[in-house]
Amino acid sequence: IDTTQSGRFEVVAQTGQTDFGGRLSAQTIGFNQSYLGPVVRMKKGPLEARVGNTLPIPVSAHWHGLLVPGEHDGGPHLPVEPGGEWVPDMEIDQSPCTAFFHTHIHGRTARDVYAGLAGAIHVTDGLDDERGLPSTYGVDDLTLLLQDRRFTQDGELAYASSMMDIMHGMTGDTMLINGQLDPVAVVPKSIVRLRLINASNARIYSLFCDDGRPMHLVATDGGYLPAPVALETLRLSPGERAEILVDFSDGRAMTLASDGDPNSGMGGMMGRALGMVDRVTGLRQFPVLPFTVDDRLEGSIKRLPDNLGGARPDHDPAKTAATRRFSLDMGMGGGMGGGMGGRGMGGGGMMGGFSINGRPFEMGVINEEVERGTTERWIVTTNMLTHPFHVHGVSFQVVSVNGREPGPEDQGWKDTVLVDGETELLVRFDHPASRDTPFMYHCHILEHEDAGMMGQFTVS
Ligand code: C2O
Ligand code: CU
Ligand code: CU
Repeated sequence: IDTTQSGRFEVVAQTGQTDFGGRLSAQTIGFNQSYLGPVVRMKKGPLEARVGNTLPIPVSAHWHGLLVPGEHDGGPHLPVEPGGEWVPDMEIDQSPCTAFFHTHIHGRTARDVYAGLAGAIHVTDGLDDERGLPSTYGVDDLTLLLQDRRFTQDGELAYASSMMDIMHGMTGDTMLINGQLDPVAVVPKSIVRLRLINASNARIYSLFCDDGRPMHLVATDGGYLPAPVALETLRLSPGERAEILVDFSDGRAMTLASDGDPNSGMGGMMGRALGMVDRVTGLRQFPVLPFTVDDRLEGSIKRLPDNLGGARPDHDPAKTAATRRFSLDMGMGGGMGGGMGGRGMGGGGMMGGFSINGRPFEMGVINEEVERGTTERWIVTTNMLTHPFHVHGVSFQVVSVNGREPGPEDQGWKDTVLVDGETELLVRFDHPASRDTPFMYHCHILEHEDAGMMGQFTVS
């Protein structure tokens, strides 16, 4: 949906039968279609969204990556009830980026996103030609929602069947790209832009080109980098987006592939030390999407741009108004000792022990109050597994990762960052959020979020 002229769009949650590439057919849900939603293209200025719901369950439309006030954020406090409608009158005012949207009803986000309630967003300023970036939608500018799923023998989507699926988050053995099973991307003989959105519930990808050609990172969650950065591997955790350029001008085919999920290594926690044979796929590496080149397609960009115009985040660490610590806790009492074997794992389906600072999410509790217009230092730590930490309503700077400079994936503007140990952020809060519609911060492994690894804050 292109809103850049109309200034409006509508998404309606609905159900239907989805034919995943002919082999499997499942009952699924989506926005405006049976599985997933449209790509919504927007620019600076007023934007009226209309969110409808024809499903028998409450849904919401959280604009993950849009910098809008809490009342327009679409979080758990803004459900659209069955038959209902939500019409936020938004103002888009941010740099170009790739974002996405998904349902966010507390306690059922994971299963409803798994069933299909997510879509993509492009924020554009119409100046990509001047930047030298490929921008022909669907030709040399591809939007790719990465999802892994499991299917039952009769072709239905299978959701969490064991405690491990909640513990590690629900990962699958079958890749879907934009809801397609076994797709092949056909691209022109030129430089091609891939807007990668990790819309998986829990899987952390470490993407690479199987022939070793570089991926040139041009944008992170919040928008463009100053210049492309060549990468061999790109780590992308749930909720994160990255835009990369891949050079196909030699006409050669290539497969985008991934290493296994670090949280899903065989043998549970130990798997990470043992070389990560994926618990679900049984593989160390797996194909994500094959690319072939078609001479008849027109790609206009033949060389890498050198100046993207993006700004490197540069908050002044001396000017922070507060320091807050967030410990992403699994197991009881926050420590390794006794946590996993005890109440955390047992209790007849009761998943205990997912919390932040020992406190599981509660709809009625405001965990933090932030002063609007200030910058804060947020220190996020993990005690078990690795967790993508996401904050609503902001774009932040990653200052350090375990005491070191962040890697290239984390050097641009971010709203989601994979934490393994201790990660330090500088966050500026410009958008207001009241007690009625506070912003969330949470682990973007959706099973962890639903089980309580989430908190909420006001900005005023
Ligand atoms: Cu994409 Cu609070 O989430
Ligand atoms: Cu979000
Ligand atoms: Cu988590």
